[in-house]
Amino acid sequence: MHSDYQDVLFVGPGLASGATGEAFRRDLQALHTDAGGTQIIDTLDGFEELWRTLRQPGAGNRLVVDLEPTSDGAYLDWLRDELGRIAQAHPQAPRFWVTGSALGRRGLDAHAAWASIGQTDRHLPCDNVGAVPSDPGWSTIPDHARQVFLCTGPRCVRRGALPLWKALRRALLKHDLIETPGGVLLTRTACQFPCNLGPVLTVHPDGCWYRVRHDDDVEHLVNMHLLGGNVAETLLIRPPNGGKPDA
Ligand code: FES
Repeated sequence: MHSDYQDVLFVGPGLASGATGEAFRRDLQALHTDAGGTQIIDTLDGFEELWRTLRQPGAGNRLVVDLEPTSDGAYLDWLRDELGRIAQAHPQAPRFWVTGSALGRRGLDAHAAWASIGQTDRHLPCDNVGAVPSDPGWSTIPDHARQVFLCTGPRCVRRGALPLWKALRRALLKHDLIETPGGVLLTRTACQFPCNLGPVLTVHPDGCWYRVRHDDDVEHLVNMHLLGGNVAETLLIRPPNGGKPDA
């Protein structure tokens, strides 16, 4: 354990379940045989466990290693602001720090996550982060022609939804389709219900329900439907509302 911190919390979706989470926990344990001072918190179903853990008694410095795959500056500021509020309301006035906004994007890499504890110049304090900035862009709906909802509910994550999310973003970026006129507004969702047919991805307003299992499926879906405007028939789990969607 790094001596600057009373404990370190590894926080992100899918850390407690599935093959990826299992491999992460195993690798982390191999790096850190003394289990004291570290905790793994899965945020797949929300942040309540994290808030609860940080409200527990303790006066020292605590570090949160952020492993959210879609983390960015705005997400990190939100997280820091939430932690700052908990610290302020805490009777023992602990100090919370956050690191690693890009760590989750590499996949769950226990070595990188562990190394980030020692990279203290990258640790961000959570005091007085302030409210979410009133960026005027946050008051407008981004350009898009279709909204794509990828399920990252627990059963779809077990079936590989998180790596697919990355593949999907990569493919859309390659074709300049993210939040552009004629492009896509991409959203992760909780369970969309037909779990056994997952990982589930829906495209609206076309009303298409798809199952995407591999990077090849993602590539096909992007080329066929999101770029070409045709239903990707081979991936359908339910026929679209009205045949061929608008291009
Ligand atoms: S977890 Fe994805 S549909 Fe239920």
